[in-house]
Amino acid sequence: MKVSVIGAGNVGGTLAQRIAESGLSDVVLVDIADGVPQGKGFDLADARSIIGNDCKVEGTTDYSKISGSKVVVVTAGLPRQPGMSREDLVAKNAATIKKVLSEVVKYASDTILLIVTNPLDILTNIALKTSGFEPNRVIGMGGVLDSSRFANLIAEELNVSINDVKALVIGAHGQGMIPLVSQSSVSGKTLSEVLPKEKVDALVEDTVKRGAQIVACLGKGSAYYAPSAAAFSMVKAILKDEKKVVPASVLLSGQYGLTDVCIGVPVCLGTSGIEEIIELPLTDEEKKQLIDSAESIRSTLTNLL
Ligand code: APR
Repeated sequence: MKVSVIGAGNVGGTLAQRIAESGLSDVVLVDIADGVPQGKGFDLADARSIIGNDCKVEGTTDYSKISGSKVVVVTAGLPRQPGMSREDLVAKNAATIKKVLSEVVKYASDTILLIVTNPLDILTNIALKTSGFEPNRVIGMGGVLDSSRFANLIAEELNVSINDVKALVIGAHGQGMIPLVSQSSVSGKTLSEVLPKEKVDALVEDTVKRGAQIVACLGKGSAYYAPSAAAFSMVKAILKDEKKVVPASVLLSGQYGLTDVCIGVPVCLGTSGIEEIIELPLTDEEKKQLIDSAESIRSTLTNLL
């Protein structure tokens, strides 16, 4: 089994490490910055004896090495800087993703694409159109990360185990994200049963702002530990055919009353990529938020496609 990671920066390098160290599959790490993917590839491969698995890691600038990949994860592009929204990255990263995809289509036309570069939903829409791949093979990683951030903040607020918290965030991976209070719970009790409304509202707001908070702290670049963990869990669900239900950005064709737009909703992930789109009962407010979030993605896309 082979997974290729395009972009050997913070997210891509950490993802390659997670895949290699877990023994999940061989990894090809590709970047345009000659030397960087090779150096990281050698370094990761040198750890194999200590970790004790035979998964191969190769860093390269040569896209032909991605051929035969079950999944290609795209992390190439600029991260945001303090004061920037994910949406501010759109012009540069849309151009980058188009270049990357022309190579992926050439060498790995049967692969499943996992898009990580931001602005995530917009780039997933572009990836779907420019690759020509079937919609089940074009997936955006956003909701797993946002849900994990929401879960962490809930667990910290209540001082409970992270394993007792279920949290779900749908919608765009950006300002339009929708932490679903109605679908989030602690040891089986809904959030509203365990916390007063003001606290729940504050957790929702902190979840939306978490990425920006990390960008502001770092001063340069954006989060990569949790993003790479989220991407790793999705790659694993596909490679191991886990049939795992997670939120991801996918093309909707009527679900939630939306068509012809990729946006974050719960899906079942398995060996074919998206195996099912799950329609949850949403409150009227949540439905409206999802429609507004989709409209915002669409209006940005009209200038890019
Ligand atoms: N092909 C391959 N690699 C590229 C290309 C390209 N056309 N263009 C840029 N890259 C590489 C850069 O050389 C760099 O090594 O992408 C890498 C990006 O790494 P970082 O700058 O460290 O950014 P990172 O933190 O990994 O974030 C990458 O993921 O989570 C998102 O918002 C984040 O859009 C950003 C992306």
